Parts: sequence; C-alpha cells; structure tokens
Amino acid sequence: MAHPFAGRSLAVISDFDREERRYLFNKTRELKEALNRDDTKRIEQFRINNPDFGIYEVFLEDSTRTKESFKHAALFHRAKLSALSTDSSSFNKGESYADTFNNLAGYDNRVFIIRSKLEGVCRWLEKATSSYTERNNLPWSASFINAGDGRHEHPTQELLDEFTFLEDNNWDYSSIHIALVGDLYHGRTVHSKADGLQVFDSVKVDLIAPDVLEMPPYYVRQMRDNGYEVRMFPSIEQYLSQEDLAKKWYFTRPQLERMGDRVLKRQDELREMISFHQRFLPLLPEGTIFYHPLPRNKDKPELPVFLDDLPLNGWERQSANGRLVRIVLVGMLGGLLGDDFTAVNKVKQPDEARFIEYVDTSDRTGPKRYSEGVHPISEGIVIDHICKGDSSQEIREHMGKIVSTLALHGKGGEWVSTSQEDESMLKGIIFRPGHSTLKEKKIRQLAAIAPGCTLNVISQGAVKKKYRLHTPPKLYGIKGLTCNNELCISCPDHHEGVTPHFIRTEEGSMRCLYCDTTYSFKEIWR
Ligand code: CP
Repeated sequence: MAHPFAGRSLAVISDFDREERRYLFNKTRELKEALNRDDTKRIEQFRINNPDFGIYEVFLEDSTRTKESFKHAALFHRAKLSALSTDSSSFNKGESYADTFNNLAGYDNRVFIIRSKLEGVCRWLEKATSSYTERNNLPWSASFINAGDGRHEHPTQELLDEFTFLEDNNWDYSSIHIALVGDLYHGRTVHSKADGLQVFDSVKVDLIAPDVLEMPPYYVRQMRDNGYEVRMFPSIEQYLSQEDLAKKWYFTRPQLERMGDRVLKRQDELREMISFHQRFLPLLPEGTIFYHPLPRNKDKPELPVFLDDLPLNGWERQSANGRLVRIVLVGMLGGLLGDDFTAVNKVKQPDEARFIEYVDTSDRTGPKRYSEGVHPISEGIVIDHICKGDSSQEIREHMGKIVSTLALHGKGGEWVSTSQEDESMLKGIIFRPGHSTLKEKKIRQLAAIAPGCTLNVISQGAVKKKYRLHTPPKLYGIKGLTCNNELCISCPDHHEGVTPHFIRTEEGSMRCLYCDTTYSFKEIWR
C-alpha cells in the first residue's frame, strides 16, 4: 500500500485533512516530549538521517522564522540542505518557475520549501514537476511546501499555530474561541485559519480589523460554510466594550509592503485600532493568551514589549514550536513518519450532477412560443436564456465573448429579449442559421461560458434537440479563460505558461485552483 504522506505537497492547509493534521500534532507532541526528557533513542526515530535526502529552500520574499526553522529542521534530519540565491539566479534571466524547479528536482531534491509573492506556485509546481518526473523516470515525486504565497496562505504557520492552541487547550479538540486581530486583508496566516481551525469540533472566531483591513469576504464565507460562528469588530477598543471575549488572541502585523498608497496614508490610524495598550490589560479575561506569527515592528509593535514578561505571552513558545512541527512535516513527506497513520474513510462525494441536460421535446403539445424578435429559423441553432436577469449592456458584452470563444462567426445575430416567464427580466439570444448543431466539445464550452442557457437545434422549422446547460464542475483548457488576480501564478501577465483552472463552488461561483480567488462565471473570460 502507498505511504499516506510520502511525496505529497502542502500548498494550502486543506491539503491535509483534519485527521492527518491531528496525526502530525500527536507526532510533534511525542517529539517535543522526547526532546524535553532528552530521550535520545526516541529522538533518533524522528530523523530521516540520510545525507542524500535533498531539502531545498527557495525564498523569494524575506523571512527569518520560516526559513530558519525549516533549515534547522533539515539539520535535525541530517539531510542535504540547499538554498537558492534568488538574487543571482536565472529567474533574473526570465526563467520560468517550472523550468527552475524541474532542474532542481533533477538534482535529487525531494522537498522544496518555497516563499513567493506569486500565489498558487506550489499547486502549479506539483503539477508541472510530476510531468517532469515521469518524463525523466525519477523514482520519486518531489513535495512542495508553501512557506507563504502572496496574501494567499501560509499553511505551515497554520500547523504550528494550531499545535500551540492545542497545547494551551490541554489537547482538547472539542472547541476554540479565538480573536483574530490586525491586517486580516493581507495576512496569509489568518487566511489559512478559514480551513485550518476545522481541526476543532466547534469554532467561534471574532475578527477585529478596521474596514480596509477586514478579512476578504471569500474567507469569511468559507469560515461560515465550515460551521464557524463569526463576529466582526472594527477595533480592539470596540471589541473590549462587549463582554463575550475570547481567551485566545491572534495578532498580525499591518503588511505595509502589500498595501496601496490609499491604505498606507492611513497606517498610523489603522495601527492604533489593532495595537494593544496597557490600559486594556484589566479588561482581559483571566487566562488570556496572545499569539503572533511575528515579526512585529520594533518602532510601533502591535504587541508592545511590556507584554513579553506577562503570562499571556504565547508567541515565543509558538515560534519555537515552528521548528518541531516542520521537523515532523518533513519526516512525513519524506516517508519516515506515517506508517502507523490510519486514514478515516472519506465520505464518498456524490457523482457530479450532469452539466449538459438533454430536454425531451417530443411530447410538447399546445401552441409553439418563440422568443420576441426571433423568427423561427428553419435550420440552425438558437442559444437562448443567456445571462438572464442582467442589464442589456452586460448581456451584449457577454454574448460578444461567447461568439468569439466558440468562433460562432457567420450568418445570424444576437438579440436581447425579455423572459417569457418574467417580462421584467432581460435575456440574450444568439441565433445561427445554417449550423446543424454544435460538437460535444463546443457544447461543453458553451456550458462553461453561458451556464443557464439552452441550446436549441432547429430542423425543418421545429426544435429537434434541446439542451439545458449548467456550470461544469471544472474549467480548464478553454481559450479565453483567465484568472484576473494579478498575483496569481496563472495570471497571463506572469508568462509562466500556466493553464487557468477553475473549480465550481457549492454556491455556483468559480474558484481558481491556484490562488482560490472566486469569480462569477462571467468574470473568468477575457
Ligand atoms: N511567521 C513568519 O512567517 O515569519 P517570517 O516571515 O520571519 O518567516
């Protein structure tokens, strides 16, 4: 049977389900206890102990804790540790991520640790390098660990955060009530909490951030979908003016390097709303613990240094736990740890609903009704119900994209009409006389670009075939698809050759596989 963890990647926290994370936390706890008792025999069982096992760090953004704790984890394993000098690498000659990492994988490197301002890099490399591995008959697949990508996620920080919360919960997984304070908009460590905190059975989250630093709606929705109770407050002062206070507070710094000028101008005022002050101390419930992924600013720290000596200082232990969690993670991905993991049977997802629905029109009786303005054509296709409910301008713009994507050029026209069911609603219609039908591939494309539409195949003046089209579960490989997040690895501006790839969410919007940005179906077409 395949090893449950060897060769896997950690691009986002949900790449490890909660049982897998609980396993990692139990192993980390065992390692920490062994280190505390100086139990050398037990400690040895956590070491890969192979000088040929390649661990490669590539940090394209600054770091102290993540870089150094992974380095110390590699040293613990007595593995081969390398780091790319990114300032003098061939990235500067325009080399792509895929080419760079494929070559490094070819030098016997098994685990890559990557920090980048581009989002979704590890998810992309996992794909790109597996093709390289196959082409070159490598005996293993490399693992990619996301050490922070743009403002997207920081899953290994999430692991060490959860481990520390659990230590302070006496290993009770039943519930957590936590306040997340600070720059929740740009802070990737708090974004990873949207899925990460699911390791607890019941979650209550208080989000404390001024308007421009609020948690992006996608993550708030994700938290609520995951069953968390979520409350929002604009400042620490306001949070403390009510009585239901969390005993765990997780601070994050204002990420000045990711802010635009408009927000930077307000930095002093914003910082004030998310920084802790001496006067707040008496208002805290007994047993409150503060956490922070760090760094904190030495001039204007969110957690002033007078707090360091108080029992509420949880951030120093949190940081030290980072090395231990990362030792265990590398041990799992390297195939050393995990043989004793028992996977919980995953609930089988129901089969995807069909997105091309054939509508039987053979037993239709009564007078035929045709959309306003469209004379029944004797031979051809009519695409109806396009963008129902949108404005006429939006409908026309989108019909232009449909025509261009499906190359529906030639005779015929586009029309904006009213819905027969509700005359206050507009809808688009494209008619093309002379087309006998659309090929299966084009029908799939039509479903992708115009979900909710119907495709009518007309022959001898009557509807011979009718399809109702719904959003496909996955979209990729179609000309014109694009992720508009300029930080996403798949955004065409970066020329990384990444095929955009979207996944339908439960609410029917489309989520980018790489950066998790969600869009309406219309927004993903150039
Ligand atoms: N917490 C964290 O990611 O710190 P560094 O930026 O120093 O790695």
